Amino acid sequence: MYGNDIPELLGEVEAAEAALREAAARDTEATGGEVAYFEAVIQADQKIEPRDWMPDSYRKTLIRQIAQHAHSEIIGMQPEGNWISRAPTLKRKAILLAKVQDEAGHGLYLYAAAETLGVSRDELVDKLLAGRQKYSSIFNYPTLTWADVGAIGWLVDGAAIVNQVPLCRCSYGPYARAMIRICKEESFHQRQGFEILHTLSHGTGGQRAMAQDAVDRWWYPSLAMFGPPDADSTHSEQSMAWKIKRFSNDELRQRFVDMCVQQAGVLGLTLPDPDLRWNEDRQAYDFTQPDYDELMQVIKGNGPCNRQRMAHRRRAHDEGAWVREAAAAYAKKKAAA
Ligand SMILES: [Fe+2]
Ligand SMILES: [Fe+2]
Repeated sequence: MYGNDIPELLGEVEAAEAALREAAARDTEATGGEVAYFEAVIQADQKIEPRDWMPDSYRKTLIRQIAQHAHSEIIGMQPEGNWISRAPTLKRKAILLAKVQDEAGHGLYLYAAAETLGVSRDELVDKLLAGRQKYSSIFNYPTLTWADVGAIGWLVDGAAIVNQVPLCRCSYGPYARAMIRICKEESFHQRQGFEILHTLSHGTGGQRAMAQDAVDRWWYPSLAMFGPPDADSTHSEQSMAWKIKRFSNDELRQRFVDMCVQQAGVLGLTLPDPDLRWNEDRQAYDFTQPDYDELMQVIKGNGPCNRQRMAHRRRAHDEGAWVREAAAAYAKKKAAA
């Protein structure tokens, strides 16, 4: 029902997990000090751990990427949280509640991974709230109907998996391990979205139209999730050399398109691109690129919901102050006893 790609992607996650275990059991031979050791570990496809020496720029790149990723999980709870109270059945409500809760958990794994690099979670949260660190631009689009919850699961979580499966092999151990857990959960999210859309697209004419409208609105923002085209991508080359990144933005975007075309067929929905067609020479689909000027505008803070998302996050942070204080007081009391 879901196409063959998700099992295939999950197979890659399993393989990455096995490789991680294998790497942990091996010893890297390197003479010539910590720089040589770092290079040797990267070359041998083993993992850099928090105790190891690493170049300052490697550490900074990881902090920036992991923080942005963590923030995205947390801000990403908002568009769907909007529908928890309006989900059409109790079962749908329970599923959506669990999904949004998973995203909070992903944020937690990632903040914890970032902390191993020497930044505190407080510091990262402060930077998000001050607008000094970003989150994924996709969460600045509104969820107008119930079908949007389906489209987010199918397309946004689907794009997230395609992006994140290669990160299970990232050279930094704590990030790679967090990604393995996250990818396994994301695959459920993608399926729940697909299932919502499948139900709607096989329902009444109105439900079908609602599903198609949601896909029409989420398709290009989802393609933009892979970032700017390779030619304009500023961080890519070094990240590839460090094996933080394994595939280019354009390669991952192509993989996502090829996966979605087949699944859209099963859904009986169309992707809103008149130029989408199979290219026999490339053995891949040709497609229209998303509007990268729009992406840059959304990244700059001018998307449809940027201000609303940040205002909501700041309010939730302020309203949660007493919980943080109570937890800290409790921990102190326990430590004293
Ligand atoms: Fe997530
Ligand atoms: Fe998700």
